[in-house]
Amino acid sequence: MKILVAGGAGFIGSHTVVELIGAGHEPVIMDNLYNASREVLSRIRTITGREVPFYQTDIRDREGMEAVFQAEKPEAVIHFAGLKAVGESVRRPWEYYDNNITGTLTLVDVMRKNGCKNIIFSSSATVYGDPAFVPITEDCPKGQCTNPYGWTKSMLEQVLGDIQAADPEWNVILLRYFNPIGAHASGLMGESPNGIPNNLMPYVTQVAVGKRDRLHVFGDNYDTPDGTGVRDYIHVVDLAKGHVCALKKLAPGSGLSIYNLGTGHGYSVLDIVKNFEEATGVSVPYVIDPRREGDIATCYCSAEKAERELGWKAQFGIREMCEDSWRWQKNNPDGYESAT
Ligand code: NAD
Ligand code: UFG
Repeated sequence: MKILVAGGAGFIGSHTVVELIGAGHEPVIMDNLYNASREVLSRIRTITGREVPFYQTDIRDREGMEAVFQAEKPEAVIHFAGLKAVGESVRRPWEYYDNNITGTLTLVDVMRKNGCKNIIFSSSATVYGDPAFVPITEDCPKGQCTNPYGWTKSMLEQVLGDIQAADPEWNVILLRYFNPIGAHASGLMGESPNGIPNNLMPYVTQVAVGKRDRLHVFGDNYDTPDGTGVRDYIHVVDLAKGHVCALKKLAPGSGLSIYNLGTGHGYSVLDIVKNFEEATGVSVPYVIDPRREGDIATCYCSAEKAERELGWKAQFGIREMCEDSWRWQKNNPDGYESAT
C-alpha cells in the first residue's frame, strides 16, 4: 500500500518507515524538517536499501500538500507531524495549536479532497491526564491535560472522531503511545533531541556519554514503590510495528478505533537508571530534584486490546530498550548532527 508518512523524518516516523518497507508497503515521507534532519533519509536508505520519496512540506501548506497528493496518490496517511515538547507548549501555546490543530485540519481537508480517507493518528497517553485507574484501558475516561501539547492531542482525537462519525467513508485509528525509547538495532537511527532533552532516556544517554554531568530525577516522593515516577516505556521499533499492524485494520467500514500502544509494564525513573547501568556497564550519576510541574505519579497501560484486535504485542524488554538507546547515542554523540 502507498502510505504518506507525515512527520516521517522524525523519531517514531523514521522507524515506522523502515518497518513499512519491511512489510512490503511503499512509504512516502512528508516533513517540514522542523525537528528532523535530512540525514535520516540516508540512514533509511542504508538500512533498507530503498530510496524513499521525500517532500519537505509543512502540513499547514495546503498547496504544497495538494502537489504531494497529486503526485503520489497515497491510499492512507500515518500522521506523526506535530510539535511535542510539553514545556515549550506552555510557553508557546499559539504555535502548538497552530501547528498541531491547524496543520491536522488542513491535512485532513486535503486528504478528503483527494479521496484519501484512511488515517492513523499519533495520539498519546497524555490524553488520560492523571489516569482514573491503572493499568489504563482504552475506555478509561480521558482526563484534564496539564499542558497545551496534551490538549492538542485530546482535541484532535475529538476532531477526527467527529469527522469519521459524519462521513463513514473515513477510517480512523487513534494510537495512544506510552513512552517510546530505544533505537534501531543497527545504531543508525534514534532520537536526536535539540538542546537539553525533555525526556528521561535521552537525558540518561547524554549523561552516560559525558555530555551532561548527572541526571536530575524529578521528585522521589510520589506514591510509587521507590517514590519516583512510573511509566510504560516501549521500544520504538515495537511501536513502529504497531503501525504496520494497525494498517491492516484500516479496511473499508472499519470506522473509528482506538488502541493503547505500550508494554503494560511500569518502570520507575530509578528502575531505568539501574537497568541502563546493568545493560550497558556505564554508570549514570543522579541527583534528586523537586517534582516537575504537571507530572503524574504512575502511567502504564493494558495493551490487550491491541493484541486482541491488531495481533500486536511489544516484543522487546527494558534491556533491549537500554542497549539500543545506548548504541545509538554512543555511535552518534550529537545525534544526526554528528554526520553533518
Ligand atoms: P518528532 O519531533 O521526532 O517527529 C515529528 C516530526 O514531525 C518531525 O520530524 C517534525 O519535523 C515534523 N513536523 C512537525 N510539525 C510539522 C509540520 N507542521 N509539517 C510537517 N512536518 C512537521 O516526534 P516523535 O517522537 O517522532 O513523535 C511523533 C508523533 O508522536 C508526534 O505527533 C508526537 O506528538 C506523538 N507522540 C510522541 C511521543 C513521544 O514520547 N515521542 C509520545 C506520544 C505521542
Ligand atoms: N524524568 C526525570 N528527569 C528527566 C526527565 C524525566 O526524572 O530529566 C522523569 C519524569 O519526571 C517522569 C519520567 O521521568 O517521571 C518520564 O518522563 P518523560 O519526560 O520521559 O515522559 P513523560 O511521561 O513525562 O511524557 C512523555 C512525553 C509526552 C507523552 C507522554 C505519554 O513527553 O509527550 O510521554 O506518552 F504524552
